[in-house]
Amino acid sequence: MSKTSPRLFEPLKIKSIEFKNRIGVSPMCMYSSKDGFANNWHLVHLGTRATGGAGLVISEATAVSPEARITPDDLGIWKDEHIEKLKEITAFLEDQGSVPGIQLAHAGRKASTSNPWTGGKYLTEEEGGWEPVAPSAIPFFEENPAPLELDSTGIQKVISDFREASKRAFLTGFKVLEIHAAHGYLLHEFLSPLSNQREDSYGGSFENRSRLLLEVTRAVKEVWPNHLPLFVRISATDWAAGGWNEEESVKLAKLLKLEGVDLIDCSSGGLVPNVSIPVTKKYQVPFSEKIKSEAGVLSAAVGLITTPQEAEEVLEKEQADLILLGRELLRNPYFPLEAAAALEADIKWPNQYLRAKPRN
Ligand SMILES: Cc1cc2nc3c(=O)[nH]c(=O)nc-3n(C[C@H](O)[C@H](O)[C@H](O)COP(=O)(O)O)c2cc1C
Repeated sequence: MSKTSPRLFEPLKIKSIEFKNRIGVSPMCMYSSKDGFANNWHLVHLGTRATGGAGLVISEATAVSPEARITPDDLGIWKDEHIEKLKEITAFLEDQGSVPGIQLAHAGRKASTSNPWTGGKYLTEEEGGWEPVAPSAIPFFEENPAPLELDSTGIQKVISDFREASKRAFLTGFKVLEIHAAHGYLLHEFLSPLSNQREDSYGGSFENRSRLLLEVTRAVKEVWPNHLPLFVRISATDWAAGGWNEEESVKLAKLLKLEGVDLIDCSSGGLVPNVSIPVTKKYQVPFSEKIKSEAGVLSAAVGLITTPQEAEEVLEKEQADLILLGRELLRNPYFPLEAAAALEADIKWPNQYLRAKPRN
């Protein structure tokens, strides 16, 4: 039976921003920058996904300081000079009717590696790397050198770097800001007892381990306008005994909501290597469902959602408010246009492509 209004193409309003549909481009590192600068790769890559009809396009993990990069090739927003090219990109995304979003990130102990297609290995200073920082001096891979344990000055610098980067993100024209607190990067490292063995007020209890993320969120809120959406990406579980888990994620989501966070983007894993993750279709959807229902906050589902019908079902079952797609949108940037046809939603195509629009 034909459906007139699929959920996937219902607009979503958060604060002053209306997303034309529920499809977002999940943040994906491109490892294609020099000194943190965006270039035409980013314009074309993100721009194509906007042309393809995604309601939200989130930039890759964007480093808040040089040492916050995963690789020397990461995108950054730690200096004002980064703004100009990014501004060109946000303007283009808006022209296509997509909301431009940015993910702000600090790689923590997973910093200073080569990019995946050159091996993804730890880089020494002679190889162009730097000393990674972390809550505790425990490396991600046993064979890597231990990261530097952040002292209170270092922690204050992280908070201030997120604040300054958020100011620039606003000046650049981004309309959604996502704090990256997932995948074993710095903020997640503070959350998990497996990587955080501090004995000060940032380690130990749930409250202490959550402190840095909450302080970063407050610092971002000082400069990120109240009328614009703020998201936080978390790893809902470490998939490891003794690690961060779903119950703590719900508790954290409630606290983040109180701080003014609008949506929790529910991913998982990445904190420790060699864990067994049951990677199957929609395997992370139970996390977005749990956080949405138990913390009473908007949530995004991500992970192996690859068909319009799967995305639609997640929304129909109220398991999430927004669907983020990663690899499917790398394979097919026109997924949203095609999904609309498959679900029989009549959406606006770019004028330039109108002659290719399927007619019913
Ligand atoms: C090339 C690539 C780069 C990624 N970079 C990031 C990133 O910068 N930040 C992030 O939070 N997740 C990153 N991810 C994870 C994706 O955002 C997404 O959560 C994951 O790929 C699962 O969704 P999918 O099955 O739709 O691809 C990356 C994934 C890929 C494939």
